[in-house]
Amino acid sequence: MVALTLPKNSKIKPGKTWPAPSSGDIREFKIYRWNPDDGGNPQIDTYQIDMRKCGPMVLDALIKIKNEIDPTLTFRRSCREGVCGSCSMNIDGVNTLACVKHISEINGPVKIYPLPHLPVIKDLVPDLTQFYAQHREIEPWLQTDTPQPQAEWRQSHAERAKLDGLYECILCACCSTSCPSYWWNGDRYLGPAALLQAYRWLIDSRDERTGDRLDSLEDPFRLYRCHTIMNCAKACPKGLNPAKAIAEIKKLMVERRL
Ligand code: SF4
Ligand code: SF4
Ligand code: FES
Repeated sequence: MVALTLPKNSKIKPGKTWPAPSSGDIREFKIYRWNPDDGGNPQIDTYQIDMRKCGPMVLDALIKIKNEIDPTLTFRRSCREGVCGSCSMNIDGVNTLACVKHISEINGPVKIYPLPHLPVIKDLVPDLTQFYAQHREIEPWLQTDTPQPQAEWRQSHAERAKLDGLYECILCACCSTSCPSYWWNGDRYLGPAALLQAYRWLIDSRDERTGDRLDSLEDPFRLYRCHTIMNCAKACPKGLNPAKAIAEIKKLMVERRL
């Protein structure tokens, strides 16, 4: 029989239950905790909050816990309105932004984990080093050969409209970390977020490096690991569709061979 050894720290233990308020509209929050400094396994801590004294979003509850109950709870956040992409995490089994997720939409205890299938730095903070490196790899900036114009690079309204559904990406990583292909081949498959960004530059009418950009994606892993499972489109909290962008890149690959 094959003996499998679980990776270090992969077992989650029951954690601490913090004292509940004596009265009020109480909601329970079960939150993943892991501290690299204590050498232990991760655990799930339970916190209880009086919702009459808390804002409506999951991020409001996390901030309240950090400010009033447990200052060691660690998570990322910045804008509090769904535009910076910092507060992405797995809430109630779904990757989303804590600042736009209503607590009232969740039944039972609110379960909060870091984004899946990434190394954890601490508690709800995943290591996004590879994710950002992949974004850098697609060279997300305008590249041209014609001399710089006197004023701005011009686009027609129709050309500009092609960027709708792409430019809104806030690089929160909810899509890539919900993609099974990215889970298994994240070191070689660029993943839905980077590929959506790649397509955003491929169809920008001002960019003059379309051929080079397609060459760099022409690879069995970087692009073609997408199997149209569509988790990415379901996960995107901005309502974008990376799977469609990936399909469009594949179409461009075919068209240039004709
Ligand atoms: S459609 Fe492609 S990118 Fe999106 S989740 Fe599926 S495999 Fe991943
Ligand atoms: S496509 Fe959506 S889910 Fe993916 S990184 Fe961009 S905003 Fe986040
Ligand atoms: S805090 Fe900026 S997206 Fe949530």
